[in-house]
Amino acid sequence: MSHLIAKTITSAVLPVVLLSASGLALAHKAGDTIVRAGYAQVSPDASSSTVLGVADSGVDVKNNAQLGLTGTYMLTDNFGIEVLAATPFQHDIVATGSIASFGKIGSTKHLPPTFSAQYYFTGSDSKINPYVGIGVNYTTFFSNKTTQNLNDAVAAVTGLTVTSTSMKLDDSFGVAFEAGVDFNLDNNWVLNVSVWKADIDTTAKINVNNGAANAQVDVNIDPIVYMIGVGYTF
Ligand code: NI
Repeated sequence: MSHLIAKTITSAVLPVVLLSASGLALAHKAGDTIVRAGYAQVSPDASSSTVLGVADSGVDVKNNAQLGLTGTYMLTDNFGIEVLAATPFQHDIVATGSIASFGKIGSTKHLPPTFSAQYYFTGSDSKINPYVGIGVNYTTFFSNKTTQNLNDAVAAVTGLTVTSTSMKLDDSFGVAFEAGVDFNLDNNWVLNVSVWKADIDTTAKINVNNGAANAQVDVNIDPIVYMIGVGYTF
């Protein structure tokens, strides 16, 4: 999937690069707004507390890719403020360690808006605009689902007859670090690659048999978010 999209972006962008090679390519300047869109992947680097007190048990959160959008407003030639948005990410949640055989135990969707203060290293005319940023990530989870595998896991561990499970994930506030590069194709178009490391921690609250029993698991999702896309400077 990622290769296909990268290939599509390459073939779409290449003619533009060739056409504009002789044109001016100016660095961002105060007052510019840069809007970028592209392929964004969230790759969790997850770790968790144990599940239902079972030794060496845990959960992992799988990768997902969506349409990513960023917008930057340049306060000066070097400083910008940025917001990262995306279509909702959907992640499978799988059992790990001593309970790994239960496989996929649930899934969740989330939106991870991230607000960053950015520093662009190039203030003069340059075709390449690298930048770094630091900011705050807010992640809200929704459409949380559990599977029969989770019912089976809870039944196996607790001895209960499990007829239903549900799950809720706490929202997360955390710091996010960012680095990226805008390759100026002409006065308006840029090719962008960017990466974020976000501190996203949540507590999964699992409800068994409509409240007959409860469990919770602390999960550090702490993903790396990659984006490749094209942008336009207004
Ligand atoms: Ni964390």
